[in-house]
Order: sequence, then structure tokens, then C-alpha cells
Amino acid sequence: MKKRSEKNTETSPSKTSEHQSSSGRTKNQGNKPINRADFVETEKVKELTSRMKPYLQAGYPLHLTGPTGVGKTAIALHLAAQFDKPIMLLHGNHEMNNVDLIGGVSGFTSDKLIDNFVRQVYKKQTEVKEKWNPGRLVEAAQKGYTLIYDEFSRSSPETNNLFLSILEEGILPLYGTKQNQSFMKVHKDFRVIFTSNPEEYAGVFDTQDALLDRLITIEIEHDKKAEREILREKCGVLAKEADLILKITGKVRTACVDENKHGPSLRASLMIATICKKSDITISQENKKFTRVCKDILSTHLMKCTEQNNLLEAEKWFEKEIS
Ligand SMILES: Nc1ncnc2c1ncn2[C@@H]1O[C@H](COP(=O)(O)OP(=O)(O)OP(=O)(O)O)[C@@H](O)[C@H]1O
Ligand SMILES: [Mg+2]
Repeated sequence: MKKRSEKNTETSPSKTSEHQSSSGRTKNQGNKPINRADFVETEKVKELTSRMKPYLQAGYPLHLTGPTGVGKTAIALHLAAQFDKPIMLLHGNHEMNNVDLIGGVSGFTSDKLIDNFVRQVYKKQTEVKEKWNPGRLVEAAQKGYTLIYDEFSRSSPETNNLFLSILEEGILPLYGTKQNQSFMKVHKDFRVIFTSNPEEYAGVFDTQDALLDRLITIEIEHDKKAEREILREKCGVLAKEADLILKITGKVRTACVDENKHGPSLRASLMIATICKKSDITISQENKKFTRVCKDILSTHLMKCTEQNNLLEAEKWFEKEIS
């Protein structure tokens, strides 16, 4: 008797893999530790962490919201690291859909059975099954990871609807996956931290009230004291140097706030401090090289929010304000 069984896995160019690359998801591979070496645990961060950790421990999802560059993602990562669980990072994206999150059919598996029992009779039996590739959310929900859903409001409400039953009933619906079960039970340790930037809602998607109603929303704002600590520790600048950088960034920020707009964030201050440190540029108002770096980094912000709408006028503004 000669019986041969072959297993063939043919993965056709699938929609899933296309979406996986276009959704801009997960830089962190789900279970790799994140290097938090350059994170500065400021007083503000400590206060926020001790306030928010019990909410997550009690099983409630958190939502950190605030203007760009206030540290929402950095704090979310820090908070997630408090739990002894792998962290999964998901970036909201208008192209993200259910297939990205819960998976979809990504090809076919065929089992071939060739039966040559009697030499003259040849029997061939092929069974073709659809191959389901579970999406990232399935893995996280099943294994109890801590999920950071960064900029969730960039995804469409239809996609985010999945979270309604996860957060309320603890089940993940498996729409369109052709699984025997139509839902999956979510692990008890599965925690979610959402982040969003309210300014981005305009022109993207309205945040869903139903989703917001299930989240504990914490507003994160610019905090000068925390920014000073971060500049000092992360970039190694002196206190007076950090103060000078923050004073200059702060002036542009104030000019923007006066126009009801958000100005440069901590990112701009970090850029100035890092460049000066790495290029041995003395951080002093009298140093032309330093003021040049400040102008280069801050001019676009200034032009965007004030009537200094060309470079020449922006230069004049800086001459007056910082020289
Ligand atoms: N406590 C901290 N320690 C070290 N770096 C920090 C800290 N908080 C924020 N940063 C740095 O400040 C910058 C802005 O932080 P982050 O990206 O978290 O802001 P965000 O609020 O998520 O901004 P966006 O809305 O643009 O996504 C990043 O470079 C981040 O690494
Ligand atoms: Mg962010």
C-alpha cells in the first residue's frame, strides 16, 4: 500500500498583508520590551501614573488627550510598562479596518491525499481550506497584553466600533472571519490606553460618544516644570540653559496662544537642546549660532500662527524678542 499525504500552503497575495503595511501599525512587535532608558520620570509623570494606574488595574480603559507634543504617547508607554505584560502599540489610521484588527482570510491551505493502493486505480483527494490570519487585536485580547491605541481618532468610527463590545462585554466580535465562533472572550488582563489629539478631530473623524463614554479621559497639558526636568535629564543641559530654551519656545507659544492656536511643543525645545549639545553650541542669548538654531526650529511655528507670514518678518520678530 502506498499512501502519500502532502500539505500545501499557498498564500495568495492577500488583502490582509496589504492592509498590514498600509495601516502603519505596531512598531513594537507585541512582545518585545520597549527601551524606556531616555524616559524621564518627572514629578508630573509620577503624579499621573499613581492616579491612572488604579483605573487600569480595575479594568477600565484610559484615554489620554491633549495637544501635540505634551507627552501623551510617552506617558502611555510608561504607564503600560507598569504592568508585567507585553505592550502592543497600534496607530490609528483612516485606512485601518476590521481585517487589520481581527484578521481575515489570507490564502488557502490544501491537503492532498494520493492513494495508489491498486496500481491501476489512482485516487486523488484534495481538500482546500481558507486560511485565517488573526489580526493584531486578536493576539493582544487573547493573551492579555496591554494595548496602546495611539491617535485612535484617526481611525474610522466603524473600525473603532469593535472596541465597544470589548470594553463593555469583554468579547471581541470576529465579524467576517468565517470562524466557527462569532466572538472571542477577551483575557482578563487585557488593558487599553487610548490617546488622541482633540485638534485633530476636525477634518478627520468625530470621536464617537459611545466609545468616549466607556473611557476614563485624562487631559494632559503643557507643563513647564516637567519640560525643564525632561530637557535637563534627557539632553544634559544646565538648569539655566533649559530655562533659556523654554523661555524662547514659550514666547512663540504665547504668540500662538494669543491667536488661539497651539504653538511649538516640547519637541521643539528638545530639538534645540539636542542640536546644541551635539554640536557644542553654547546655549546663550548672546551666541548667534544658538539664536540661529532657535530661529530655524521655531520660525515655521511662528509663521503658522501669527501674521509674521514670511521669513523676513519672522526674523524681525525673533530679533526683537530674543536677541
Ligand atoms: N517624560 C518624558 N521623558 C522623556 N521624553 C519625553 C517625556 N515626555 C515626552 N517626551 C518626549 O517629548 C516628545 C513629545 O512626546 P510625545 O510624542 O509623547 O507627545 P504626544 O503628546 O504623544 O504628541 P502627539 O500628539 O504629536 O502624538 C517626544 O520626543 C517624547 O520622547
Ligand atoms: Mg503621540
